[in-house]
Amino acid sequence: MSKAPLRVAVTGAAGQIGYALLPRIASGAMFGPDQPVILQLIEIPVEKAMAALQGVAMELEDCAFPLLQDMVLTSDVNVGFKDVNWALLVGSKPRGPGMERGDLIKENGPIFTGQGRAINDHGASDVRTVVVGNPCNTNALIAMHSAPDVPNDRFTAMTRLDQNRAMAQLATKAGVASSDVTNATIWGNHSATQVPDYINTKIGGKPASEVITDMDWLRGEFFTTVQKRGAAIIAARGLSSAMSAANGLVDHVRDLFLGCEGTRSVCVPSDGSYGVTEGLISSFPVRCTGDNGYEIVQGLELDDFLQERLVATVAELAGEKDVVADLL
Ligand code: NAD
Ligand code: LMR
Repeated sequence: MSKAPLRVAVTGAAGQIGYALLPRIASGAMFGPDQPVILQLIEIPVEKAMAALQGVAMELEDCAFPLLQDMVLTSDVNVGFKDVNWALLVGSKPRGPGMERGDLIKENGPIFTGQGRAINDHGASDVRTVVVGNPCNTNALIAMHSAPDVPNDRFTAMTRLDQNRAMAQLATKAGVASSDVTNATIWGNHSATQVPDYINTKIGGKPASEVITDMDWLRGEFFTTVQKRGAAIIAARGLSSAMSAANGLVDHVRDLFLGCEGTRSVCVPSDGSYGVTEGLISSFPVRCTGDNGYEIVQGLELDDFLQERLVATVAELAGEKDVVADLL
């Protein structure tokens, strides 16, 4: 017997990430090859955006994906989030050259109050939300605060792209396949202060710092490449990452939904673990337990360099929270 369809809302569905993301969801890459989906596509109530969304929907139709049971196209969040099991919050302004992601906070933050409320009021009883729109940690915090009836642990934000970037950099340096890099760990904010961990990230099952012993590279080029990769893509493309961002989101949701071996980097509400202030949404290594469950991995050790930077990225998250205090 075929499974009941999942309802998946995607905001900003006519944008760059949306274009790379929607065929991956509809083809089964996110929820599995036997899981039908209904896509609820949300855009801004502007003629050009809604026309572009129509075009994207026509293309999805023309792919004849067997798992795509239906589509809803709307600019009304109360319709778009109706009965959704997963809400993928992508729609928001991307940064341009010379900006930090945090510079978007005043413009993008308010988007997530109305969306959080609509998810609260109209989402399915098992609704899960992931925020991609930047600054994603703090936007997820805003959505979470706007949805008081939805348990906090249902709100996550995405550092999976950073995790994948770290895996690729380490694999290239070590001359191994990216699949040999496991438990790749990003701590803190999805920003230039994020902390890519070279101790708890493993290469061939050993700490990356035991395989790549060049600490200057690990604390220098590796660190800054991962932290500033988003800006490097913007400088090269003139547009922010889209294909790799969509891929990161597919990985993020799939591993939570289906479960996986090892650990993954996910921004989740802090319970105070590792000294990260409770109530912030921070990237942690989590174990995905299947059926959307996760737990923050406990008992990991950091060296002084990583520990100092973890304190700094948490301070940045606390500062972002202060900036949006009126939205919480
Ligand atoms: P884009 O400009 O190509 O598309 C954004 C789309 O969102 C547009 O179509 C726009 O009309 C729509 N939109 C804006 N406000 C909306 C709202 N309130 N409701 C519904 N739709 C809305 O941008 P993009 O390249 O797709 O990037 C989207 C966001 O994702 C940006 O904030 C970007 O910085 C962020 N991003 C995050 C990561 C990450 O790793 N967390 C990676 C890449 C991009
Ligand atoms: C990224 O990491 O590529 C995104 O967050 C986009 C950006 O602004 O860097």
